[in-house]
Amino acid sequence: MRVLITGGSGFVGQRLCQRLAKDGHRVQVVSRDPEAVRSRLPTGADIRRSVLDFIDSPPQAIVNLAGESIAAKRWSDDQKKRLIDSRVNVTRDLVILCEQLAQSGAGAPRVMVSGSAMGYYGDQGDREVTEETAPHDEFAHRLCKRWEDTAKEAAEHGTRVALLRIGLVLDQGGGSLKKMLPPFKLGLGGRFGSGRQYMPWVHREDLVRAIRFLLERDDLDGPFNGSAPHPVTNAEFTRALARQLKRPAFFPVPAILLETAFGEMSRLLLTGADMRPARLLEAGFTFRFETLEAALADILG
Ligand SMILES: NC(=O)c1ccc[n+]([C@@H]2O[C@H](COP(=O)([O-])OP(=O)(O)OC[C@H]3O[C@@H](n4cnc5c(N)ncnc54)[C@H](OP(=O)(O)O)[C@@H]3O)[C@@H](O)[C@H]2O)c1
Repeated sequence: MRVLITGGSGFVGQRLCQRLAKDGHRVQVVSRDPEAVRSRLPTGADIRRSVLDFIDSPPQAIVNLAGESIAAKRWSDDQKKRLIDSRVNVTRDLVILCEQLAQSGAGAPRVMVSGSAMGYYGDQGDREVTEETAPHDEFAHRLCKRWEDTAKEAAEHGTRVALLRIGLVLDQGGGSLKKMLPPFKLGLGGRFGSGRQYMPWVHREDLVRAIRFLLERDDLDGPFNGSAPHPVTNAEFTRALARQLKRPAFFPVPAILLETAFGEMSRLLLTGADMRPARLLEAGFTFRFETLEAALADILG
């Protein structure tokens, strides 16, 4: 089938495109710079600048991953607007595409798996968090809520919408691990603040499998937590990473230092949620990497 992927050039999107192309699907990618990203995508990928450029080549399925990186810059008012607009505008275009295709007789895409993040829940302390848990109101929550609410509008045109609240994605060559590795390899790693904040994580391979699971299962819609069944605290993550690298990690980074350096964005490092993939497990999805030790051994071993 034809699958349209926004953010297909990104850390998650690239792996998803490879897997879909390998299984014989036709990959369509929206990118701000098609020529620059072509070499990162499977041969034959149809890359266009905007979602609405695909009106003449209707996708049967959509995966929506585009968005300005949440940790790119301090969260000034301008940057907060960029974080929201970069997600909501692309998502709104997807809803318009669904509407136009439904009206044209070509038929709206069957399904849209739309990105969201653990930030939907905001800071939850050490409470166990499932898709039922009420969110804590803060910027990350408001960002994810607007992203999700826009995506949900596609359902009005007959498209099944699954929202994937993604945890920290782990693999080689990108994501947070790439930033964490240099200090840890030098033996200069350590927990952030108290280290008690939860870090729900997921191996990139399992995330891509979860996206494909949600694309295929016609009976599933609504929110799904996209992280492994055994989340860890930041202190546990620090210990596991140090053990895997056979390095000490004795250098805790005080909360005040992170708050001074990163402002409100430091909440990404200092707060979290003990997020569990309740609905994916209930639907019968199995994780290949259930524990952080297994994931890190695969990635770094
Ligand atoms: N990686 C994680 O740990 C993690 C955790 C939770 C949630 N998520 C969410 O999952 C999605 C995919 O994550 P990822 O790690 O693959 O992200 P990524 O590597 O940063 O890729 C996102 C893609 O979005 C596009 N993009 C970036 N800035 C944009 C902007 N200002 N306007 C429009 N498009 C823009 C880029 O595509 P082009 O340059 O080709 O246009 C980029 O390749 C993201 O939305 C992210 O928020 C990721």
